[in-house]
Amino acid sequence: MHGASIFAPAGAPADAIQTLSLFVLAITGIIFVIVGGLMVYCLVRYRRRSDDDGREPPQVYGSNPVELAWTVVPVIIVFVLTTTAIRSTYEIQAAPPPPDSLQVRVVGHQWWWEFQYPALGVITANELHIPVSDPAHPTPTYLTLESADVAHSFWVPRLAGKTDVIPNRRNIMWLAPAQSGTYVGQCAEFCGTQHAKMLLRVVVHPADDFARWVQAQRQPAARNPGAEAGRQVFEATACVSCHAVRGTGASGTFGPDLTHLMSRETIGAGAAQNDLANLRDWVEDPNRLKPGVLMPAMQLTQPQLDQVVSYLASLR
Ligand code: CUA
Repeated sequence: MHGASIFAPAGAPADAIQTLSLFVLAITGIIFVIVGGLMVYCLVRYRRRSDDDGREPPQVYGSNPVELAWTVVPVIIVFVLTTTAIRSTYEIQAAPPPPDSLQVRVVGHQWWWEFQYPALGVITANELHIPVSDPAHPTPTYLTLESADVAHSFWVPRLAGKTDVIPNRRNIMWLAPAQSGTYVGQCAEFCGTQHAKMLLRVVVHPADDFARWVQAQRQPAARNPGAEAGRQVFEATACVSCHAVRGTGASGTFGPDLTHLMSRETIGAGAAQNDLANLRDWVEDPNRLKPGVLMPAMQLTQPQLDQVVSYLASLR
């Protein structure tokens, strides 16, 4: 697990953004030190003294060399900063997807992330799995970002900059992480009560590992005889109008696809670890872990609750 520091980039767009930021910081830092230093020097050197005679010092007007210098130098600085920023922006935004790059459709919901892999027949939530991109042979992942409700923002600080996720609009971004591992991120645009618990994870796999993950996710839901009673409760309640479980009658799309729920590390978009105790707590009353969540408590009896949780736990 890696942190979420913008100072530890782990892939192409984040690297370029950091290089640009450090360059801008260095130039503006030098200007700050020069201007601040001159100011402090003047304040101390020319401070009011007890023997001051109160007369104005000699004034200097109309020096062509001085006026020229303080016009031309700032213009050059602004020109350099602007062109490098435009160049980086262009390199990141205009990079065309290689023909065999992985395409993922990201849909922001209040308050979770939907990830669809149209070419692979995979749908998952909150934890985006992508292959590592070797800088020598880049295999970037291109994301198309859409919103089902309000404005969100997709941000995984170590992998790329923020991209807004806006209703009725399609934004594009790409990731090319150079090292495998888990990268954390979150929604970066206030989107309602549970904006703070709209977390996301990007799990970066070596290529063969990613192929195995895809293979497992493509399978229909596991059928476990021990969990039949729970499946019946699940399918008889309103769970199925919001959640899909591939290979069963459940085909709702308002909430996350649960076909391989147990392959995910967290529930409630990062609100809690995905273990049986939290899962039970969550199904019993989602508001306890995530106040304001749009998933209602289904008012199940304790035995029904146990059955549903054992069914969910069978969705590996
Ligand atoms: Cu979604 Cu903030």
